[in-house]
Amino acid sequence: MRLLVTGGAGFIGSNFVRQVVERTDDRVTVLDKLTYAGSRESLAGLPEDRVSLVVGDVADSELVDSLVAEHDAVVHFAAESHNDNSLVGPRPFLDTNIIGTFALLEAVRKHDVRYHHISTDEVYGDLELDDPQRFTESTPYNPSSPYSSTKAGSDLLVRAWVRSFGVRATISNCSNNYGPFQHVEKFIPRQITGLIDGIRPRLYGEGLNVRDWIHVDDHNSAVLTILESGRIGETYLIGADGEKSNREVVEALLQLFGRAPDDFEHVTDRPGHDLRYAIDATKLRTELGWTPQFSDFSAGLEDTVRWYRENEDWWRPAKAATEAKYAAAGQ
Ligand code: NAD
Ligand code: DAU
Repeated sequence: MRLLVTGGAGFIGSNFVRQVVERTDDRVTVLDKLTYAGSRESLAGLPEDRVSLVVGDVADSELVDSLVAEHDAVVHFAAESHNDNSLVGPRPFLDTNIIGTFALLEAVRKHDVRYHHISTDEVYGDLELDDPQRFTESTPYNPSSPYSSTKAGSDLLVRAWVRSFGVRATISNCSNNYGPFQHVEKFIPRQITGLIDGIRPRLYGEGLNVRDWIHVDDHNSAVLTILESGRIGETYLIGADGEKSNREVVEALLQLFGRAPDDFEHVTDRPGHDLRYAIDATKLRTELGWTPQFSDFSAGLEDTVRWYRENEDWWRPAKAATEAKYAAAGQ
């Protein structure tokens, strides 16, 4: 199969391409704008006869049309992905997440190409800490941030293109990912790379917010499963029962670095900060038989710390500018 992977030079997309190369015979074209969040280095070492990179914008409808015409399936990861950035400058989120998805949908509609849409659990808003319910495929949409509202908008476009035009699409909404190649702006890599530099972890507010952590390889194995055997028109939630408060994550990292459990700082909270996300992935597990492989969060975190220690060349160039942005926001 010829796969077009948008955003394949970013965190989850580059790990996806690596998994595709290892587990299938597919050939992959990555379409990526190489924004601040994407880099060629994230694809280094992959076989050139299986993986090629086209540098371009998913909102460029002519480019997208010509690429889609040459492929059997599209997996759409490309997005502006960081909530904090969306609060400072929302415009690129509309351009990439909404218009970019529209351009892809029009192309897959014209060329009748299978499409898988990568989305987030943030479209459902947040839960109370003691709410026994978790998000399911029928939870109503209620996004909080410019980022999550544009992802919600993109999901709704997909649903409309399936119903109105018969586009052969599936959607997945996943919880928080961790693992190698994640940008240093995100919570876990920010704290790991800070600790490597001897900087105390930074917790927004009280640090009580809960995220449902999943290893990036588990997210991607679920995406491959849906691509291969998901039912057209369906949405699948992806999660691995990994709920942890931010404070618990920071304490686990401090332990891995041999530091005291309270050796962190509280900083200015994120405006509109979602309290808790939690995924019920029963549909994916029972219908498609998917199971996550990384059930031990501490072991996954330890591997991730090792990866950042061993790959300083990859993350160091982005670190100072990212921290300068956070400092300006009191974070
Ligand atoms: P990322 O920011 O690490 O990577 C995004 C990639 O998209 C980058 O390589 C960037 O260069 C590229 N890109 C951005 N705008 C583009 C454009 N206009 N045209 C072409 N390429 C463009 O993001 P990520 O964390 O890997 O997230 C990937 C996808 O997964 C996103 O759709 C995100 O909403 C979704 N998601 C992320 C998580 C998470 O925890 N990170 C969880 C669930 C869903
Ligand atoms: O739930 C899926 C979403 O997870 C994805 O759709 C997003 O693309 C991805 O960025 C992530 O969103 P979050 O906003 O949950 O992730 P982030 O890494 O920015 O923050 C995780 C939590 O940690 C959140 O509660 C905010 C908090 N935080 C973050 C940073 C950067 C801190 O306490 N301190 C920090 O320094």
